Amino acid sequence: MSQSLKLYKPLRLDKNVEVEGNIFAAPLAGYTDRAFRTVCTEQGADLCYTEMVSCEALVRGSGKTEDLLQKSEAEKIYAVQIFSGTASAAGEAVGMVSRFKPILIDLNCGCPVPKIIKSGAGSDLMRHPDRIAEIVRAMKDNTDIPITVKIRTGWDALSLNYLEAAERAVKAGASLVTMHARTKSQAYGGSADWSHLKKLKEVLGNIPVVGSGDLFTPEAVEAMLQQTGIDGVMLARGVIGNPFLFRETRHYLLTGEILPGPSPYEKMEMAFRQLSLAVHYKDERTAVNEMKKQLCAYTKGLPGSSEIRNKMVHSEDFETYKKIFREYLESFS
Ligand SMILES: Cc1cc2nc3c(=O)[nH]c(=O)nc-3n(C[C@H](O)[C@H](O)[C@H](O)COP(=O)(O)O)c2cc1C
Repeated sequence: MSQSLKLYKPLRLDKNVEVEGNIFAAPLAGYTDRAFRTVCTEQGADLCYTEMVSCEALVRGSGKTEDLLQKSEAEKIYAVQIFSGTASAAGEAVGMVSRFKPILIDLNCGCPVPKIIKSGAGSDLMRHPDRIAEIVRAMKDNTDIPITVKIRTGWDALSLNYLEAAERAVKAGASLVTMHARTKSQAYGGSADWSHLKKLKEVLGNIPVVGSGDLFTPEAVEAMLQQTGIDGVMLARGVIGNPFLFRETRHYLLTGEILPGPSPYEKMEMAFRQLSLAVHYKDERTAVNEMKKQLCAYTKGLPGSSEIRNKMVHSEDFETYKKIFREYLESFS
């Protein structure tokens, strides 16, 4: 427990910028909108990232893309993640992003989606560390906000070049490096190899390193921090339909005590809260449709879950959802 006490701590990004704690909510395309970030913040996430935002689309003036840059009302600070295959688009877009005043702007160097790779962005950048440096430099030239990068360990097992990628990014001005400890070829399969996080931290020294990969329990977070000596963690798939993991993790790192998990009632209340927030921030139809996969995640393992999932999948409006939730919650009383 005395070890754990030191694991939850502030994370200094730059001379003047510090985040109060080191448990972050990862960028998750299609998930980390303002509604999700609100419940993560309420449950104790110290910093939440937006979904990845296209620099090309921002430069083209896409209003829909610009919406992704908004901070939620609950967040005191937040981070914006961008993706770009070129330094010119990234440089121009960063000027626009800066107006939203995120605490940092992160460059995605890990997305394995073919369309993104084709544009030279995401994990394609792992094959071109020189381009990571160019893009980071262009971002630095256009903003005073700290620039960070999120990388993978490499393109595949035969090209583990994260040390080079990270060192180049830092030399170009990156203030922090997050690493998802898998290769692009692994996508999200197999297991993350945390030993690479340890090596990365040893090489980067004072530059903060944040770790990502297979963090599904408070004990896993403790193990990653203890085994690698990195500065912070980023929770990803583990918090989909389960933002409670933030409070459980923080509590565990501070006290060594495992909190009891949320009751089915609490889970469904939280699912409904997130849906209500989504409807507050987006038009109803979009909110309901986008939330379906997350609502299903909340119901995993609950009594009567297949029945309620079936009802939800076939519902299109908020009123119907309200009724489904009310009936389900009443079944507990
Ligand atoms: C559905 C989904 C969407 C993701 N979107 C992004 C993204 O937009 N930007 C990014 O850097 N990583 C993204 N990731 C990767 C996560 O941030 C995280 O690094 C990865 O899931 C590993 O952590 P985990 O094993 O704990 O889930 C995504 C992952 C998933 C499963």
